Amino acid sequence: MFYDEYEGQDRDRLPVSGRLRETYQHFDNVKDAKIFCDDTGIVPDEEKLSYFKQYATDYFQGDFIRGQGAEELLELAGRYQPIGSYLDLGSGPTGLFWCLPLSHAESFTFSDVITEALLVLMKFRRDRNYPDCYRQAMNFIQTPEVQLDNVFDLPADFAVFDCFSPWPAFIRDHQYARISAYGVLSICVGELQYSTAVRQVAENLETNGIFLGADWIRHSKFRIAEDGNDTSYLDANVIKHAIVDANLEVRELETITITDDPLYGHIVLWVAEKRGLKVG
Ligand SMILES: C[S@@+](CC[C@H](N)C(=O)[O-])C[C@H]1O[C@@H](n2cnc3c(N)ncnc32)[C@H](O)[C@@H]1O
Repeated sequence: MFYDEYEGQDRDRLPVSGRLRETYQHFDNVKDAKIFCDDTGIVPDEEKLSYFKQYATDYFQGDFIRGQGAEELLELAGRYQPIGSYLDLGSGPTGLFWCLPLSHAESFTFSDVITEALLVLMKFRRDRNYPDCYRQAMNFIQTPEVQLDNVFDLPADFAVFDCFSPWPAFIRDHQYARISAYGVLSICVGELQYSTAVRQVAENLETNGIFLGADWIRHSKFRIAEDGNDTSYLDANVIKHAIVDANLEVRELETITITDDPLYGHIVLWVAEKRGLKVG
């Protein structure tokens, strides 16, 4: 769908990241954050639930779309796999897609500020109805489809917290071998919030831990005033500064042009490492 086709549509049906901040503006990591392994006792907001179900239907379901950075991202995810526990920020209902090349993760914490996004992800993980896109992606990374079960069997829990505010103790108490952030840090309002978020990532990484992810940069014609989420401050340089400012070392940083997308013009991918203190 091209951008102009969104004209006149119900505002709430716009792509999720544009209007998300309004949804969680009162979220407080001190009293609202939680972590769970199943949905016992969780009463979802039906509107948010159907929103994220729709999101999961709209993305990563049909054919594996090439030329929009997914190949490079899967390749990077497969190449930087320290052994240990992994944390994914802003997983949404689709966070498992970027896990497809993983074989070294010991456990996974998927996280999001919106509970319902994780409920959809949890059910998707449980149901094992692998979409074509997942099968084709496995083919692309030259991994037999039967390995999909291994990825979905990875021990997982689900953490609800706002990754732009001070992280809750149940996350801060851990050091992760790898922290990923796909399409979430670009929701930050500007450079300062972006680098503060990256600093928290660095604090929660093990020595030699890996921070990797991607941000999609919007076309300038995207109607920021109406549809939210101005990414015009963001580019590879801003991301590099945030990484260096957090005392992480840039291992990979690449900007890829996206063609024929209604919303996004570029994707910036990165991998950074937390190096040990040099002795002597
Ligand atoms: C564009 S989606 C990306 C989903 C997934 N990572 C992917 O690549 O398909 C962004 C996700 O980040 C979540 N999010 C937005 N702001 C957040 C915040 N401050 N803390 C944690 N998650 C956030 C949203 O709820 C949404 O599920």
